[in-house]
Amino acid sequence: MNRLAFLAATLVLVAALIGVQHLTRVDPDQRNFEIFTEMAYSHAAESFSPNAHFADRKTLQPLVAGVVPRGTTPFPYGDGPDEARRAGEDLSDPLPEADDATAARGAELYRIYCALCHDARGEGRGPIVQHGMLPPPSLHAARALQMADGEMFHVLTRGQGNMAAYAAQLDPTERWMVVRHIRRLQREDQ
Ligand code: HEC
Repeated sequence: MNRLAFLAATLVLVAALIGVQHLTRVDPDQRNFEIFTEMAYSHAAESFSPNAHFADRKTLQPLVAGVVPRGTTPFPYGDGPDEARRAGEDLSDPLPEADDATAARGAELYRIYCALCHDARGEGRGPIVQHGMLPPPSLHAARALQMADGEMFHVLTRGQGNMAAYAAQLDPTERWMVVRHIRRLQREDQ
């Protein structure tokens, strides 16, 4: 009988403890008891901490050669006109057949990112030129007319001379849409 009373008292005490912990926990959405917490919280190394497991003793390891990070498109061309020409020989407009939505988006992106220098028609007299910047070459001049699509894509991706790269602002699809828009502007000439 005594043992039974002791057992009952212990159970009541444990139940009371669980109850108290339940009521006083900080975040009611979280679990109560955490036993063997190593299973929930792994001991991940900090990116910049030393690490004896690797030959260079660093935690953060460089990408293995040839790896393409998820969500990125490889662009194996460096800076400069020679690389731009090489891109021009290799790459062509990968977008599906022209449709109104793509055309409208290309025009919008051009208006947002390019027209301030190149102007709406591409003649190189955008508002910034009126504020003293050297005018960019006309996109209707021989050089831009003869530029291959891929070369123009390279100019947007890597920049050219005084013009900055637009790879950070426009993803590859958007850059091709803008190239198409320039082609449309050029066709309007003829
Ligand atoms: C801040 C001004 C500025 C902006 C914004 C700008 N460009 Fe340019 N762009 C230039 C200048 C300046 C050059 C000439 C660069 C050089 O060769 O030194 C140039 C050159 C070019 C060329 C090559 C033309 C040629 O004949 O060599 C293309 C194509 C071009 N830009 C397209 C674009 C597109 C598309 C955008 C928008 C995504 C854009 N640019 C945004 C200033 C700008």
